Parts: sequence; structure tokens; C-alpha cells
Amino acid sequence: MTAKGQLRYQAALHAVNCVDSGMVIGLGHGSTALEAVKLIAGKMKEGSLRAILCVPASGEVEKTAQALGLPLTSLNCHPALDVTIDGADEVTPELNLIKGGGGALLREKILARASSREIIIVDESKLSEVLGTKHPLPVEVISFAWRYQAAFLARLGAEVKLRCTAKGSPFTTDQGHMILDCNFGPIADPVQLAGTLNEQAGLVEHGLFIGLADDLIIAGEKGIRHLRRKDP
Ligand code: A5P
Repeated sequence: MTAKGQLRYQAALHAVNCVDSGMVIGLGHGSTALEAVKLIAGKMKEGSLRAILCVPASGEVEKTAQALGLPLTSLNCHPALDVTIDGADEVTPELNLIKGGGGALLREKILARASSREIIIVDESKLSEVLGTKHPLPVEVISFAWRYQAAFLARLGAEVKLRCTAKGSPFTTDQGHMILDCNFGPIADPVQLAGTLNEQAGLVEHGLFIGLADDLIIAGEKGIRHLRRKDP
């Protein structure tokens, strides 16, 4: 395992301690969240975790969870989740996030809102003082209006790129939407930007996760930092 892989594993190991028997668990998308999925499956096999149900954030996670023998359910059957463990692309010490690098931001945001506890696990390379410094902001749009939304986002100051697959065709999400990767540079006021994006008609979702994470677990060379959201 690479050094970064080790850190992702350590963050996941710390997070799965928050999972108890009988819980309904949201499973995030991405390589760090995958470590948590594997650890949860391992705990089930050894019998230290029983009677859990899992809601995957993407088709890819669903397949992996199935292959690992995790019992799956849907948000329609279980609309209230006890906990979700997910990764992120950029995080701040205030527990604000950019997500969507893996293209699963829409379901991830729904799971975050549906969960009593949203636990984010990252290696320390994701930590930043100002969102937008390390990762462009993914924005999910419908194909019908992607150029219209791209022009809107450019007017807000972003350098906009349509996400494409390795073969050069537009990437499509599990919902059949497109992703615009928007480089805003450092985002001085993420709350205001999120509000503006929320108001834009037909813009499906954006990767600013503000005030949604309850726990942020950062694995670094010097160990684990566990930050908790301060209630307002
Ligand atoms: C998925 O859409 C993203 O929100 C992921 O959480 C993100 O890309 C993190 O992935 P890694 O853990 O692989 O860096």
C-alpha cells in the first residue's frame, strides 16, 4: 500500500469505530470511503458488527458492497440514516468541503442530509485553509442545458471544463447528468456561492458541502486529527 493509501486506511479505521450494530449506514464513494466499506464488511464477517443495513452513494459502491456481502437497502426504504462515512476532495478546519471529484456528489449530498451523523475521512493532503485552492468545484447539470449553465458559471468567475472520460466522451453521473468542473480559485465566501448556485434553475447540485459534516477525520504523518462540528 502507498503512504497515502496507508493514511486513507488509518482514517477509515478511526471512522468505523463510530459504527454500531443495528445501524443504517450511508456508504460514500471514492478510494478513502472504500477503505471504510471494506472495514465494515470485515467487522461483519468477524461478528463484531451485526444487523446493519447500507445505502450506497453510487452504482460502483453498490457493486463493491454487494461483492463484499454487505446487506443493502435503499433510501426509499430507510429515509433516515444513522451515519454516513464518506471522503472529500478538499476540506477546511471549519468542516466545509468540496466533494464530487468522483462524480457522486448528488447522492452524496442527499445521504449527508439524510444522516444523523456525517463522518468525513481524508488524508492530510486534502486539508486547506480556503476551499477552491486545491480542487475545482464540481457542478452537476442536465445535458439539456449544460452550455447555458457553463456560461452562467463563467459569469460568476469560474474557468469551466466539461468533465470527460478517458476516451474523450462526456462523463455521465449515475443519474445521467453531466459534470462541469469549475475552477473559481480560492472561494472567499463559500456560503454565498452555495446560495447563488442553489438558486440557479436547472443546476442539479454542486459540490460545496457547507455545514453538513459532523466529524472530520484527517490522517497524517503525525497521526489522526478528529475535528467535530461546533454547534452554532
Ligand atoms: C466522490 O464524488 C467524491 O465526493 C469523493 O468523496 C472524493 O472524490 C474523494 O475520493 P478519494 O477518497 O478517492 O480521494
